[in-house]
Amino acid sequence: GKGEYDHFMLKEINEQPTSLAQAIEGRIDPVNGRIALSDFEPGTFDDVDSVQFVACGTSYHAALYGSLALNQAGVHSTALLANEYSVSAPPVDENTLVIAVTQSGETADTLSALKQAAAEGARTLTVTNVVGSTAARAADDTLFIRAGPEIGVAATKTFSSQAVMLTLLGQRIADDVQGEPPADLETLLPELESMPSTIDQLLEYSNAASIAEQYSESRSYFFIGRGLGFPVALEGALKFKEITYEHAEGFASGELKHGPLALVTPETPVFAIFTGQEDEKTLKNAEEAQTRGAPVVAVCPDGHPAVEVADEHLTIPDTDSDLAGLVANVQLQLVSYYAADLLGRPIDKPRNLAKSVTVE
Ligand code: F6R
Repeated sequence: GKGEYDHFMLKEINEQPTSLAQAIEGRIDPVNGRIALSDFEPGTFDDVDSVQFVACGTSYHAALYGSLALNQAGVHSTALLANEYSVSAPPVDENTLVIAVTQSGETADTLSALKQAAAEGARTLTVTNVVGSTAARAADDTLFIRAGPEIGVAATKTFSSQAVMLTLLGQRIADDVQGEPPADLETLLPELESMPSTIDQLLEYSNAASIAEQYSESRSYFFIGRGLGFPVALEGALKFKEITYEHAEGFASGELKHGPLALVTPETPVFAIFTGQEDEKTLKNAEEAQTRGAPVVAVCPDGHPAVEVADEHLTIPDTDSDLAGLVANVQLQLVSYYAADLLGRPIDKPRNLAKSVTVE
Protein backbone atom coordinates (compact mmCIF):
# COMPACT_ATOMS: atom_id res chain seq x y z
CA GLY A 1 0.00 0.00 0.00
CA LYS A 2 0.88 3.70 0.00
CA GLY A 3 1.45 3.75 3.76
CA GLU A 4 1.83 7.30 5.07
CA TYR A 5 1.91 8.78 1.55
CA ASP A 6 -0.98 10.26 -0.47
CA HIS A 7 0.33 8.74 -3.69
CA PHE A 8 2.54 5.90 -4.82
CA MET A 9 4.64 8.42 -6.73
CA LEU A 10 5.61 10.28 -3.55
CA LYS A 11 6.25 6.98 -1.79
CA GLU A 12 8.48 5.81 -4.63
CA ILE A 13 10.39 9.11 -4.74
CA ASN A 14 11.03 8.69 -1.03
CA GLU A 15 12.10 5.08 -1.48
CA GLN A 16 15.11 6.08 -3.56
CA PRO A 17 17.67 5.87 -0.74
CA THR A 18 16.57 2.24 -0.26
CA SER A 19 16.20 1.31 -3.92
CA LEU A 20 19.64 2.74 -4.70
CA ALA A 21 21.22 0.94 -1.76
CA GLN A 22 19.69 -2.31 -3.10
CA ALA A 23 20.95 -1.57 -6.59
CA ILE A 24 24.58 -1.08 -5.58
CA GLU A 25 24.74 -3.67 -2.82
CA GLY A 26 27.66 -6.02 -3.37
CA ARG A 27 28.43 -4.40 -6.71
CA ILE A 28 31.22 -2.11 -5.57
CA ASP A 29 34.55 -3.50 -4.40
CA PRO A 30 36.09 -0.70 -2.31
CA VAL A 31 39.16 -2.75 -1.38
CA ASN A 32 40.31 -3.11 -4.97
CA GLY A 33 38.71 0.17 -6.05
CA ARG A 34 36.67 -1.51 -8.76
CA ILE A 35 33.14 -2.22 -9.87
CA ALA A 36 32.17 -5.82 -9.07
CA LEU A 37 29.30 -7.09 -11.18
CA SER A 38 29.15 -10.82 -10.60
CA ASP A 39 27.92 -11.72 -14.08
CA PHE A 40 30.49 -9.45 -15.72
CA GLU A 41 33.92 -10.49 -14.55
CA PRO A 42 36.92 -8.45 -15.77
CA GLY A 43 37.50 -9.31 -19.43
CA THR A 44 33.80 -9.79 -20.27
CA PHE A 45 33.78 -6.75 -22.51
CA ASP A 46 37.28 -6.99 -24.00
CA ASP A 47 35.92 -7.45 -27.53
CA VAL A 48 33.43 -4.58 -27.40
CA ASP A 49 34.29 -1.69 -29.67
CA SER A 50 31.08 0.29 -29.42
CA VAL A 51 27.88 0.37 -27.42
CA GLN A 52 24.34 1.21 -28.54
CA PHE A 53 21.61 1.79 -25.98
CA VAL A 54 17.97 1.31 -27.00
CA ALA A 55 15.05 2.45 -24.85
CA CYS A 56 11.91 4.61 -24.72
CA GLY A 57 10.62 7.46 -22.56
CA THR A 58 12.17 7.77 -19.15
CA SER A 59 14.30 4.69 -19.78
CA TYR A 60 15.66 6.46 -22.86
CA HIS A 61 16.74 9.33 -20.61
CA ALA A 62 18.54 6.86 -18.34
CA ALA A 63 20.09 5.31 -21.46
CA LEU A 64 21.24 8.72 -22.71
CA TYR A 65 22.76 9.34 -19.31
CA GLY A 66 24.61 6.02 -19.48
CA SER A 67 25.72 6.67 -23.03
CA LEU A 68 27.12 10.13 -22.32
CA ALA A 69 28.94 8.79 -19.27
CA LEU A 70 30.44 6.03 -21.41
CA ASN A 71 31.59 8.53 -24.03
CA GLN A 72 33.16 10.61 -21.27
CA ALA A 73 34.97 7.46 -20.13
CA GLY A 74 36.37 7.09 -23.67
CA VAL A 75 34.11 4.34 -25.07
CA HIS A 76 32.26 4.87 -28.34
CA SER A 77 28.56 4.91 -27.52
CA THR A 78 25.15 6.16 -28.66
CA ALA A 79 21.66 6.15 -27.17
CA LEU A 80 18.85 5.47 -29.62
CA LEU A 81 15.09 5.65 -29.32
CA ALA A 82 13.94 2.05 -29.65
CA ASN A 83 10.94 3.07 -31.77
CA GLU A 84 13.29 4.67 -34.33
CA TYR A 85 15.66 1.72 -34.42
CA SER A 86 13.99 -0.24 -37.22
CA VAL A 87 14.26 2.69 -39.63
CA SER A 88 17.55 4.25 -38.61
CA ALA A 89 19.76 1.91 -36.63
CA PRO A 90 23.50 2.38 -37.10
CA PRO A 91 25.19 -0.79 -38.39
CA VAL A 92 26.19 -3.45 -35.84
CA ASP A 93 28.52 -6.43 -35.77
CA GLU A 94 29.65 -8.96 -33.17
CA ASN A 95 31.76 -6.28 -31.44
CA THR A 96 28.76 -4.03 -30.92
CA LEU A 97 27.11 -4.32 -27.54
CA VAL A 98 23.42 -3.36 -27.71
CA ILE A 99 21.97 -2.58 -24.29
CA ALA A 100 18.18 -2.50 -23.91
CA VAL A 101 17.08 -0.37 -20.96
CA THR A 102 13.52 -1.15 -19.87
CA GLN A 103 12.01 -1.02 -16.41
CA SER A 104 9.16 -3.39 -17.21
CA GLY A 105 11.05 -5.53 -19.69
CA GLU A 106 7.84 -5.65 -21.76
CA THR A 107 7.96 -2.46 -23.88
CA ALA A 108 7.18 -3.57 -27.44
CA ASP A 109 9.35 -0.91 -29.11
CA THR A 110 12.35 -1.86 -27.02
CA LEU A 111 11.82 -5.60 -27.54
CA SER A 112 11.70 -5.17 -31.29
CA ALA A 113 14.92 -3.11 -31.36
CA LEU A 114 16.59 -5.73 -29.17
CA LYS A 115 15.49 -8.55 -31.48
CA GLN A 116 16.62 -6.68 -34.56
CA ALA A 117 20.07 -6.05 -33.07
CA ALA A 118 20.42 -9.72 -32.12
CA ALA A 119 19.31 -10.84 -35.59
CA GLU A 120 21.94 -8.57 -37.14
CA GLY A 121 24.67 -10.20 -35.05
CA ALA A 122 25.16 -7.76 -32.17
CA ARG A 123 25.83 -8.90 -28.66
CA THR A 124 22.87 -7.99 -26.41
CA LEU A 125 22.33 -7.10 -22.78
CA THR A 126 19.14 -6.06 -20.96
CA VAL A 127 19.03 -3.73 -17.97
CA THR A 128 15.64 -4.18 -16.28
CA ASN A 129 13.72 -4.22 -13.03
CA VAL A 130 11.70 -7.34 -13.78
CA VAL A 131 13.27 -10.78 -13.42
CA GLY A 132 11.76 -13.18 -15.97
CA SER A 133 10.51 -10.36 -18.24
CA THR A 134 10.53 -10.81 -22.00
CA ALA A 135 13.50 -8.43 -22.46
CA ALA A 136 15.47 -10.26 -19.77
CA ARG A 137 14.92 -13.56 -21.58
CA ALA A 138 15.59 -12.17 -25.05
CA ALA A 139 19.14 -10.86 -24.40
CA ASP A 140 22.48 -12.66 -24.09
CA ASP A 141 22.97 -11.11 -20.64
CA THR A 142 20.95 -9.25 -18.02
CA LEU A 143 21.59 -6.76 -15.26
CA PHE A 144 18.80 -6.29 -12.71
CA ILE A 145 18.32 -2.91 -11.10
CA ARG A 146 16.53 -4.33 -8.00
CA ALA A 147 14.36 -1.23 -7.47
CA GLY A 148 11.38 -3.18 -6.17
CA PRO A 149 7.90 -2.84 -7.70
CA GLU A 150 6.94 0.58 -9.05
CA ILE A 151 3.19 1.26 -9.01
CA GLY A 152 2.99 4.92 -10.08
CA VAL A 153 2.75 5.22 -13.85
CA ALA A 154 5.45 7.91 -13.80
CA ALA A 155 8.82 6.20 -13.45
CA THR A 156 10.85 7.66 -10.56
CA LYS A 157 12.89 5.20 -8.51
CA THR A 158 13.46 2.97 -11.52
CA PHE A 159 14.98 5.92 -13.41
CA SER A 160 17.56 6.60 -10.69
CA SER A 161 18.38 2.92 -10.31
CA GLN A 162 18.74 2.46 -14.07
CA ALA A 163 21.03 5.48 -14.37
CA VAL A 164 23.16 4.36 -11.42
CA MET A 165 23.43 0.81 -12.74
CA LEU A 166 24.37 2.12 -16.18
CA THR A 167 27.06 4.23 -14.51
CA LEU A 168 28.45 1.11 -12.82
CA LEU A 169 28.17 -0.98 -15.96
CA GLY A 170 29.77 1.79 -18.03
CA GLN A 171 32.78 1.90 -15.71
CA ARG A 172 33.08 -1.90 -15.98
CA ILE A 173 32.89 -1.75 -19.79
CA ALA A 174 35.40 1.12 -19.99
CA ASP A 175 37.77 -0.79 -17.71
CA ASP A 176 37.76 -3.76 -20.12
CA VAL A 177 37.76 -1.79 -23.37
CA GLN A 178 40.64 0.43 -22.27
CA GLY A 179 42.51 -2.17 -20.21
CA GLU A 180 42.50 -0.06 -17.04
CA PRO A 181 39.95 1.46 -14.66
CA PRO A 182 38.64 4.86 -15.81
CA ALA A 183 40.62 7.75 -14.36
CA ASP A 184 37.87 9.14 -12.16
CA LEU A 185 36.71 5.79 -10.73
CA GLU A 186 38.58 6.31 -7.48
CA THR A 187 36.71 9.51 -6.67
CA LEU A 188 33.42 8.16 -8.00
CA LEU A 189 33.24 5.00 -5.85
CA PRO A 190 32.86 6.65 -2.42
CA GLU A 191 30.28 9.07 -3.83
CA LEU A 192 28.34 6.16 -5.32
CA GLU A 193 28.37 4.37 -2.00
CA SER A 194 27.08 7.42 -0.17
CA MET A 195 24.40 8.22 -2.72
CA PRO A 196 21.58 6.67 -0.65
CA SER A 197 22.40 8.93 2.30
CA THR A 198 22.96 11.94 0.01
CA ILE A 199 19.42 11.53 -1.34
CA ASP A 200 18.05 10.85 2.11
CA GLN A 201 19.34 14.26 3.26
CA LEU A 202 17.97 15.98 0.19
CA LEU A 203 14.51 14.54 0.81
CA GLU A 204 14.65 16.01 4.33
CA TYR A 205 15.40 19.58 3.35
CA SER A 206 13.84 19.87 -0.11
CA ASN A 207 12.00 23.13 -0.78
CA ALA A 208 10.45 21.70 -3.97
CA ALA A 209 6.89 22.11 -2.65
CA SER A 210 7.27 25.86 -2.27
CA ILE A 211 8.92 26.23 -5.69
CA ALA A 212 6.06 24.25 -7.24
CA GLU A 213 3.54 26.53 -5.55
CA GLN A 214 5.31 29.69 -6.58
CA TYR A 215 5.28 28.81 -10.29
CA SER A 216 2.12 26.72 -10.58
CA GLU A 217 0.34 29.38 -12.67
CA SER A 218 2.96 29.49 -15.41
CA ARG A 219 2.39 28.99 -19.11
CA SER A 220 5.26 26.61 -19.88
CA TYR A 221 8.15 25.08 -18.00
CA PHE A 222 11.66 24.74 -19.41
CA PHE A 223 14.47 22.57 -18.17
CA ILE A 224 18.06 23.05 -19.31
CA GLY A 225 21.24 21.12 -18.63
CA ARG A 226 24.57 20.34 -20.24
CA GLY A 227 26.54 17.08 -20.38
CA LEU A 228 25.00 14.68 -17.88
CA GLY A 229 22.57 17.47 -16.99
CA PHE A 230 21.00 17.22 -20.46
CA PRO A 231 19.22 13.85 -20.02
CA VAL A 232 18.10 15.14 -16.62
CA ALA A 233 16.58 18.22 -18.29
CA LEU A 234 14.70 15.93 -20.69
CA GLU A 235 13.53 13.75 -17.83
CA GLY A 236 12.52 16.74 -15.70
CA ALA A 237 10.29 17.96 -18.52
CA LEU A 238 8.81 14.54 -19.34
CA LYS A 239 7.85 13.92 -15.72
CA PHE A 240 6.39 17.41 -15.45
CA LYS A 241 4.18 17.13 -18.52
CA GLU A 242 3.07 13.57 -17.74
CA ILE A 243 1.61 14.28 -14.35
CA THR A 244 0.73 18.00 -14.40
CA TYR A 245 -0.68 18.08 -17.99
CA GLU A 246 1.16 21.39 -18.38
CA HIS A 247 3.53 22.09 -21.20
CA ALA A 248 7.18 21.45 -20.38
CA GLU A 249 10.28 20.97 -22.49
CA GLY A 250 13.87 20.01 -21.85
CA PHE A 251 16.78 21.37 -23.84
CA ALA A 252 20.53 21.13 -23.91
CA SER A 253 21.50 24.45 -22.29
CA GLY A 254 23.37 25.60 -25.37
CA GLU A 255 20.33 24.98 -27.60
CA LEU A 256 18.15 27.54 -25.87
CA LYS A 257 19.58 30.34 -28.00
CA HIS A 258 19.04 28.37 -31.23
CA GLY A 259 15.26 28.79 -31.28
CA PRO A 260 13.50 28.02 -28.00
CA LEU A 261 14.45 31.46 -26.65
CA ALA A 262 11.58 32.82 -28.76
CA LEU A 263 9.17 31.14 -26.32
CA VAL A 264 10.75 32.59 -23.21
CA THR A 265 8.68 35.15 -21.27
CA PRO A 266 8.05 36.02 -17.61
CA GLU A 267 5.51 33.16 -17.67
CA THR A 268 8.04 30.45 -18.51
CA PRO A 269 10.22 29.48 -15.56
CA VAL A 270 13.55 27.92 -16.54
CA PHE A 271 14.96 25.19 -14.31
CA ALA A 272 18.73 25.16 -14.86
CA ILE A 273 20.59 22.02 -13.80
CA PHE A 274 24.24 22.37 -12.82
CA THR A 275 26.37 19.23 -12.70
CA GLY A 276 29.86 20.71 -12.63
CA GLN A 277 30.37 20.28 -16.38
CA GLU A 278 30.87 23.70 -18.00
CA ASP A 279 28.52 25.25 -15.48
CA GLU A 280 29.64 28.76 -16.44
CA LYS A 281 28.19 28.22 -19.91
CA THR A 282 24.88 26.92 -18.56
CA LEU A 283 24.72 29.92 -16.25
CA LYS A 284 25.17 32.24 -19.22
CA ASN A 285 22.39 30.39 -21.08
CA ALA A 286 20.10 30.75 -18.06
CA GLU A 287 20.90 34.47 -17.84
CA GLU A 288 19.88 34.89 -21.48
CA ALA A 289 16.43 33.61 -20.48
CA GLN A 290 16.38 35.74 -17.36
CA THR A 291 17.11 38.87 -19.44
CA ARG A 292 13.86 38.08 -21.32
CA GLY A 293 12.01 38.04 -18.02
CA ALA A 294 11.96 34.30 -17.29
CA PRO A 295 12.39 33.34 -13.66
CA VAL A 296 15.41 31.05 -13.28
CA VAL A 297 15.45 28.23 -10.74
CA ALA A 298 19.01 26.98 -10.24
CA VAL A 299 19.39 23.34 -9.27
CA CYS A 300 22.87 23.28 -7.74
CA PRO A 301 24.76 23.04 -4.45
CA ASP A 302 24.78 25.90 -1.91
CA GLY A 303 27.54 28.40 -2.59
CA HIS A 304 27.48 27.74 -6.35
CA PRO A 305 27.84 30.90 -8.49
CA ALA A 306 24.38 30.26 -9.99
CA VAL A 307 22.72 30.87 -6.61
CA GLU A 308 23.60 34.57 -6.78
CA VAL A 309 22.16 34.97 -10.25
CA ALA A 310 19.04 32.79 -10.07
CA ASP A 311 15.63 33.89 -8.80
CA GLU A 312 15.20 30.69 -6.83
CA HIS A 313 17.35 27.77 -5.74
CA LEU A 314 16.72 24.06 -5.38
CA THR A 315 19.73 22.89 -3.45
CA ILE A 316 21.56 19.62 -3.97
CA PRO A 317 24.46 18.19 -1.96
CA ASP A 318 27.92 18.51 -3.44
CA THR A 319 28.75 15.26 -5.22
CA ASP A 320 30.73 13.81 -8.10
CA SER A 321 29.79 15.32 -11.48
CA ASP A 322 28.94 11.78 -12.67
CA LEU A 323 26.11 11.69 -10.11
CA ALA A 324 25.08 15.33 -9.56
CA GLY A 325 22.42 15.17 -12.29
CA LEU A 326 20.74 12.20 -10.63
CA VAL A 327 20.59 14.00 -7.32
CA ALA A 328 19.19 17.09 -9.09
CA ASN A 329 16.59 14.86 -10.71
CA VAL A 330 15.13 13.97 -7.31
CA GLN A 331 14.42 17.68 -6.70
CA LEU A 332 12.75 17.87 -10.11
CA GLN A 333 10.64 14.77 -9.39
CA LEU A 334 9.39 16.52 -6.25
CA VAL A 335 8.62 19.75 -8.11
CA SER A 336 6.53 17.79 -10.64
CA TYR A 337 4.77 15.89 -7.90
CA TYR A 338 3.83 18.98 -5.87
CA ALA A 339 2.80 20.95 -8.97
CA ALA A 340 0.51 18.08 -10.07
CA ASP A 341 -0.91 17.79 -6.56
CA LEU A 342 -1.75 21.53 -6.45
CA LEU A 343 -3.48 21.17 -9.80
CA GLY A 344 -5.49 18.22 -8.49
CA ARG A 345 -4.24 15.75 -11.09
CA PRO A 346 -4.64 11.96 -10.64
CA ILE A 347 -0.92 11.59 -10.05
CA ASP A 348 -0.52 7.82 -10.01
CA LYS A 349 -2.63 7.25 -13.12
CA PRO A 350 -2.29 10.11 -15.60
CA ARG A 351 -4.88 10.15 -18.39
CA ASN A 352 -4.04 8.28 -21.60
CA LEU A 353 -0.96 6.57 -20.14
CA ALA A 354 -0.25 2.99 -19.11
CA LYS A 355 2.52 1.57 -16.97
CA SER A 356 3.78 -0.68 -19.69
CA VAL A 357 3.33 -0.04 -23.40
CA THR A 358 3.03 -3.37 -25.18
CA VAL A 359 2.15 -2.07 -28.68
CA GLU A 360 4.52 -0.53 -31.24
C1 F6R B 1 7.56 7.85 -17.97
C2 F6R B 1 7.47 6.44 -18.24
C3 F6R B 1 7.61 5.95 -19.65
C4 F6R B 1 8.45 4.67 -19.68
C5 F6R B 1 8.52 4.07 -21.09
C6 F6R B 1 9.43 2.86 -21.14
O1 F6R B 1 7.42 8.14 -16.61
O2 F6R B 1 7.31 5.68 -17.33
O3 F6R B 1 8.17 6.94 -20.46
O4 F6R B 1 9.74 4.99 -19.21
O5 F6R B 1 7.23 3.73 -21.51
O6 F6R B 1 9.03 1.88 -20.24
P1 F6R B 1 10.00 0.70 -19.83
O7 F6R B 1 11.10 1.26 -19.00
O8 F6R B 1 9.13 -0.25 -19.05
O9 F6R B 1 10.51 0.10 -21.10
